[in-house]
Amino acid sequence: MKPLLRVLAGEPCWPPPIWLMRQAGRYLPEYRSLRAQARDFIEFCMTPDLAVEATLQPLRRYDFDAAILFSDILILPWALGRNVSFVDGEGPALEALQGADAIGGLDMVAMPERVAPVLEAVRRIRAALDTRTTLIGFAGAPFTVACYLIEGGSSSDFAATRRMAHAEPELFARLIDRLVAATITYLAAQIEAGAEAVMLFDSWAGILPPYLFRQHVVGATAQIVSSLKARFPTVPVVGFPRLAGLSIGAYAAATGVAAVGLDTAADPLLATSLLPERVAAQGNLDPTALVAGGTALEREARAILEALRGRPHVFNLGHGVMPATPPEHVAALVELVRAA
Ligand code: CP3
Repeated sequence: MKPLLRVLAGEPCWPPPIWLMRQAGRYLPEYRSLRAQARDFIEFCMTPDLAVEATLQPLRRYDFDAAILFSDILILPWALGRNVSFVDGEGPALEALQGADAIGGLDMVAMPERVAPVLEAVRRIRAALDTRTTLIGFAGAPFTVACYLIEGGSSSDFAATRRMAHAEPELFARLIDRLVAATITYLAAQIEAGAEAVMLFDSWAGILPPYLFRQHVVGATAQIVSSLKARFPTVPVVGFPRLAGLSIGAYAAATGVAAVGLDTAADPLLATSLLPERVAAQGNLDPTALVAGGTALEREARAILEALRGRPHVFNLGHGVMPATPPEHVAALVELVRAA
């Protein structure tokens, strides 16, 4: 079995497999020149030639255990008919979603057709990979996608989303339900096209109080996991409930994910003491240690390796690679992990 899939099946592996969130992206000069070939970021993601090439670029430089489909979590809301654009240097801009009509208008019928180019990219990437590299598909988790939909873009506190979850609980639950259904369809299609594992990015999971976290993060994730497991029993789902702190134990136990992504702030030993033994931990080097490089990078990476040695662990960052990261620091990290 491929090393990453072995660990996601609950088996420790030494040295641990490694890949990095946002391993493709602006820190690579070849990414920046590829990106210049598309008019905008959506077109970039929806052109299979470009998405395949962006996915494979980091694998030509580094000995990673996984390729992650090059796309974005906001492609699903775009495919559901929302206006989504990416303004250079400013991040995503969406038409803010308001009211029951807008939720009802999320176009589940047109969606599968609109994501066809993504699925075409998945098929081609899978065909291009060697026998030890795992292809990871992904989607945003419903709560995090709802954050961007309601806010209309990034936010420092997603106050409108949190207000709606408290003040209009039925409407908010209806939105999450729709996104759960859309995410199941989307991830199932990625698996059928060749994704061997899928990841749910829940970047803003930790901004909810516990009872709303249980409903919109744990509940929504559990539904997605159980539905995918029923159809694809051997395909692992990785959850990344960022900023969830002490709640990751309940998250792991109640959702049935194969692995939990630890964020940068999680103490690896404490965090994994909350996880069931067979649930893998993924993470969690500080992306800024990778920018810094040198002894800081070595010290941090070794501490994580030691802390998680003997349990199922996938080496990764605590959040995505930053654009300021020198590519040679990534090479140094991969070498350090392989030589552990
Ligand atoms: O990891 C990978 O290499 C796969 C590709 C990937 C991207 N985004 C490419 C991307 C993945 C898995 C994502 C996930 C994603 N997208 C998340 C969850 C993880 C996280 O970072 O918390 C979120 C919240 C988004 C939404 C998003 N996409 C934002 C807020 C932005 C703007 C900020 C930024 O970094 O530019 C994006 C754009 C984006 N997504 C870029 C890339 C490479 C940069 C756009 C460009 O190249 O012009």
